[in-house]
Amino acid sequence: TRPINIRTLNERRAAGQPFSCLTAYDATLATLADNAGIDVLLIGDSLGMVLQGHTSTLPVTLEDMIYHTRCVARAGTSSLIMADLPFMTNITTPQTLQAAGQLMQAGAHMIKLEGEAWLAETVTALAQRGIPVCVHMGLTPQSVNALGGYRVQGRDDDQAEAMLNAAITLEQAGAGVILLECVPSELAGRIREALHVPVIGIGAGPDVDGQILVMHDMLGATTGRAPRFVKDFMAESGSIEGAFRAYHEAVTTRCFPAPEHCF
Ligand code: KIV
Ligand code: NA
Repeated sequence: TRPINIRTLNERRAAGQPFSCLTAYDATLATLADNAGIDVLLIGDSLGMVLQGHTSTLPVTLEDMIYHTRCVARAGTSSLIMADLPFMTNITTPQTLQAAGQLMQAGAHMIKLEGEAWLAETVTALAQRGIPVCVHMGLTPQSVNALGGYRVQGRDDDQAEAMLNAAITLEQAGAGVILLECVPSELAGRIREALHVPVIGIGAGPDVDGQILVMHDMLGATTGRAPRFVKDFMAESGSIEGAFRAYHEAVTTRCFPAPEHCF
């Protein structure tokens, strides 16, 4: 049932029905994704790389995110619209609240921010003000310089335990959704089991509640080497809307991700 909202995602989790998510940055492709039944559209700060040509997401500004959130929101889709808080807009809780408020006023229904347990107080402040929050954990691209590259996270036991405990802390703080990027499937499944809120994965295996990909990647429009977790749905579909449909179908029937897309 559409429109999709936070309750829908919780119902899907409870029913064991996976939901589909894609990034979207403009009105036309947002409309095609909505037509294909995509459940969640993320205005990701990946736009810094796929649209703006930067080598990381660090240069993306709040103004950039507001502009693209407005573009997607104007499509009037029935998908849930999530928008990323870009690098360094979460220095203090008041600053984060203000930035998140601007993204909500631009048309987002939920905001996503990267971090760990230290975000708990900010997550609570956002949730108290009616802003649903998704916390992005595991490989957090805004920390690429600290991580030393785009690498799988949570491989060793201590790291895995810390991620699991941080996810529990963030749920207790009020996070509505947790997103896991590039973590071993086994760990993602354990985190999902330990939580009550929906978990979205990218390179996190099949045992989560939703899957997300960068739209350009799943359309085969990847420059350079595609990450292991990407599948090109355009190759088998022949049209953009067809590729979105094939992806939605593959996610909701648990055909994607397959073992070759997982860690
Ligand atoms: O910015 C983005 O596209 C993201 C997804 C990869 C989850 O954060
Ligand atoms: Na992002």
